[in-house]
Amino acid sequence: MIEAQPGDNLIEVALANGVDIEHACEMACACTTCHVIVREGFDTLDESDETEDDLLDKAWGLEPDSRLSCQLVVGEEDLVIEIPKYTINQVSEAQ
Ligand code: FES
Repeated sequence: MIEAQPGDNLIEVALANGVDIEHACEMACACTTCHVIVREGFDTLDESDETEDDLLDKAWGLEPDSRLSCQLVVGEEDLVIEIPKYTINQVSEAQ
């Protein structure tokens, strides 16, 4: 359970709390390594923009509730976030 304030950036909160989400492009919305799935609270979030949607199309394990966590701004509601087991980056590192 991680405490966050509305307006916080999800990946920054996660990283600050020791949850290691990959962020190969340094949160510039230019990769897919920060892909997460929003299990609860998805509908309370701001919608993803076109750039994020294009990238998500390439993300491993894409789901309807997938988002790029560096583009995710925490709202008023609680969120349940799942981090997919393999990002593209982790897969390539394992080769
Ligand atoms: S860190 Fe690259 S898109 Fe989020």
